[in-house]
Amino acid sequence: MVNGQTNTVQFVGSVIISDFKMLKEIYSLPAATGRMHFSRLLDIVPGGDRSHGIAFNEGPDWEELRHFTARQIRQEGLARDKTEDMIMQEVMHFIDSLVSNGGAPVTNVKGRLLLMTACIVSGFTSGSRRREVGLGIIEIMQYVQKTFTELHTNFRVLFFLPILAKLFPVLSGYTIIREVLGRFTACFKIPIDDHLNSYSPDFDRDFTDAFITQMRNTTDKQSPFYGKVGEDNLLATLADIYFGGTDTTSTTLTWLILYVSKMPEIQKKLQDEIESITGNVTPIGTMDRAR
Ligand code: HEM
Repeated sequence: MVNGQTNTVQFVGSVIISDFKMLKEIYSLPAATGRMHFSRLLDIVPGGDRSHGIAFNEGPDWEELRHFTARQIRQEGLARDKTEDMIMQEVMHFIDSLVSNGGAPVTNVKGRLLLMTACIVSGFTSGSRRREVGLGIIEIMQYVQKTFTELHTNFRVLFFLPILAKLFPVLSGYTIIREVLGRFTACFKIPIDDHLNSYSPDFDRDFTDAFITQMRNTTDKQSPFYGKVGEDNLLATLADIYFGGTDTTSTTLTWLILYVSKMPEIQKKLQDEIESITGNVTPIGTMDRAR
C-alpha cells in the first residue's frame, strides 16, 4: 500500500519510509522505536525473555545500551588522539595497498575498504587490529559476509512468517542462520575473555574495557549491564557495532570512490579544498573539520 506520495510503503506489519524529512520526524518519536516482530530470531543470545544488544532490541534495555554506546563512540571515537592515529594508520595502509598496485587498475576496492573498516572497528572495540590478530579479523569478516548472504537468501521467508523458525527450523533456514550467527559471535568471545581476564579498574583501553567497568559498577539486578546479562549484552553490542559499522561505511566509501573516479572535475574540487587546508603536507584530520 502506498500513501499517495510514494514515500511510505506498508506490508505485512512493516512500514518502509523513504522520505528523509518524514524519517527524521519519526525517529524522534518514542512510539516509533520498537523493533520488527522477527527481530528475536536474530538475537545473538537466543532464548530467555530478554533481547540483547542494540540493533534488535527495544524498551529500557535498548535505551540504556544505545545511550552508553553512543557516548563511548563520541568520547573514544572522535575526541581521542589515539583513535584518530589508529584510523589514520588504517587509512594509510589502504592507500599503500592501492599505490603498491603500481598504477595498474585496482580490483576489489570494496574488499580492501571492508578490511580497513573492520580493522578500525576492532581497534576501537577491543584494541586489536589485523597486524596483531592475524587471520582472526579476516575470519570475522568472512562470517559477516556469510551471515549477510544467509540473511538475504534464507531470511526472506522467515521475515514474513517467523513462526516457521519454530515449526521447520531446518527447512526455513533458521538452523543455518543460528549456526552462522553462533560462529560470528564466537569471534568476539576471544577478545571479551581476554579483556575479562586481564581487566584492571585502572585500564581504559577501549570500548570493551569501558563496558566491563560499567558492568562491575552495576548493582541493579534489572540493569542490562548486570552479571551474565551484562556479558551477553557486551557480546551482542560488539556484534552490533561490527555489523553496523563495517559494511555500511565501506559500501559508502566504495560509492564515493566510484563517483569521484567517474567525475574527475568533482575529484579535482575535493582535492583543491583539501590542499587549501592542509597545504598537502599533512594528512587531513578531525581538527580540520572546522576549517
Ligand atoms: C555510512 C555509514 C553508516 C550508515 C549508512 C548507517 C546506517 C544505519 C541505519 C539506517 C541504522 C538503522 C537505524 C534504526 O533502525 O533505528 C543504523 C543503526 C545502527 N548503526 Fe549505523 N550506519 C553507518 C555507520 C555506522 C557506524 C560506523 C557504526 C558504529 C561504529 C554504526 C552502528 C550502528 C548501530 C549500533 C545501530 C543500531 C542503533 C539502534 O538500533 O538503535 N553505524 N545505522
